[in-house]
Amino acid sequence: MAEPLKVGLAGLGTVGAAVVHLLDQGRDKIVARCGRGIEIVALSARSRGKKRPFDLKKFRWVADPVALARDPSIDVLVEVIGGAGDPAKRAVETALSAGKAVVTANKALLAAHGQKLAALAERHRVALNFEASVAGGIPIVKTLREGLNGASFTRIYGILNGTCNYMLTRMEQDRLSFEACLRDAQALGYAEADPTFDVEGQDTAQKLAILASLAFGIKIDPRAIYVEGISSITLADLDAASELGYRVKLLGVAVKTEAGIEQRVHPTMVPKESAIAQVMGVTNAVTMDAEGLAPITLVGPGAGGVATASAIVADLADIARGVRNAPFGRPAARMTAIRKAPMQHHEGGYYIRLLARDRPGTAATIARRLAQQNISLESIVQRHAPGSRGAARPGRSGEAVPVIMITYATSEDAVRKALAAVRRDRVVTGRPQVIRIEKN
Ligand code: HSE
Repeated sequence: MAEPLKVGLAGLGTVGAAVVHLLDQGRDKIVARCGRGIEIVALSARSRGKKRPFDLKKFRWVADPVALARDPSIDVLVEVIGGAGDPAKRAVETALSAGKAVVTANKALLAAHGQKLAALAERHRVALNFEASVAGGIPIVKTLREGLNGASFTRIYGILNGTCNYMLTRMEQDRLSFEACLRDAQALGYAEADPTFDVEGQDTAQKLAILASLAFGIKIDPRAIYVEGISSITLADLDAASELGYRVKLLGVAVKTEAGIEQRVHPTMVPKESAIAQVMGVTNAVTMDAEGLAPITLVGPGAGGVATASAIVADLADIARGVRNAPFGRPAARMTAIRKAPMQHHEGGYYIRLLARDRPGTAATIARRLAQQNISLESIVQRHAPGSRGAARPGRSGEAVPVIMITYATSEDAVRKALAAVRRDRVVTGRPQVIRIEKN
């Protein structure tokens, strides 16, 4: 039998520890599937003294991950340190330059330097695999890079952040506050070290940048993505969405338009009956639309140690079998510059919630401002304060009442202009809530 594949593992957080466990448990299965074993020969992490769920003494310890990356006894570096900078970046570059394959879960690193790293891997004829960097246990990288390599994608969108989906689900189902849901997600180990990264959409944006590159052959650039998080979403929005037949999800969307590739991350209203609306909790989902193909949706665990480690082990299995693919499904030099479609040109339906001053003329003013921008309403509801319904006289106090509107397809630019005018007219209080609608 061939020699086992020798692995250096850098990073021993939740995911690193799960990789140690999975490789140990799956020993026989791996040999049966790959024709050879996969063995961790050395480890590196920030602290050697920390309590671990396995016996550290079974492995050689290398304090510096960069030294581990060039260690002659390893064939592959598994990098689960995280972060776009050093030591993760230098460890990955060192391993590739030394002719060692790399498996990484590091979306930040790939989003920032993916193309350069892919070119380095190509130059040294080694694999650079990163299935675990997007959507945890869902094999979306492999699907785009290999299974659907012949497809012409028109849109790819999904729930790419388990923390946000878990929070939105708990808020909706258990009527919990945003803060309580975030605390739970952190306790369950889903959230990033800095959870604002999850809730403000940055985590989704990095993952979307990787998927958009795989789907459309473009250079990875998270700066080309419009990003909005879920921190402004309230129970009132979730309730209104539900009454109107929608559910709110944080989506990452990359779509081919006449103006270029539109990439955006924002809370989105999706029809309740759509496949993506059924995805609850920490689960992730990705839908791919391609010319001549019915939409394909992959659903699965998006975060957590075991799900992510399972993707890492699959990447290692490919290397053990001698499989090496172009990291982004094409030579790095053929990744094209992004023609970015500006967000102002985005077209679609909108949910708008305003706090309108309840007095004569308010509705007429709002309607006029929308009409000036050619915005047509699909529905409009004004919610009265309890007890005020059917009052003998129209409201004159200017008390704020929620007005909820759904528009027919219009442009982002028109919505922004209309709402700015409505605010200038002083018929509303506070900031209008705007949620884009994505049709399937
Ligand atoms: N914080 C991420 C999430 C973990 O919640 O999806 C996986 O990238």
